[in-house]
Amino acid sequence: MQLALRNGQEREEIWVAYQGLIYDVTESRLWRDGKHYQHWAGQDLTEELDADAPHTQKVFERFPLVARLKTQ
Ligand code: HEM
Repeated sequence: MQLALRNGQEREEIWVAYQGLIYDVTESRLWRDGKHYQHWAGQDLTEELDADAPHTQKVFERFPLVARLKTQ
């Protein structure tokens, strides 16, 4: 799966999915090496953001949309 390869370890790009949309967060200092607090990039983190994050999905506004998840 393409998303899984962008976890900040295999490739330079760092991608995260939320509600079926994949965002490129490579430029974020808060996602360096694919890790953001207890969360790893390269996967759908919808449930994690809704349950654990101290912020809303507005944090994605400044990042480019890469694609839509095929399963959605
Ligand atoms: C323990 C859970 C989490 C904590 C403590 C946390 C904390 C933070 C903090 C403090 C910021 C910067 C201030 C702000 O924008 O409010 C931030 C930004 C961000 N968070 Fe989280 N977050 C968590 C979970 C998540 C999850 C699960 C996602 C992805 C679905 C996520 C995606 C983002 C993004 C994309 C940014 C913007 C980064 C930037 O602007 O460089 N966060 N988070």
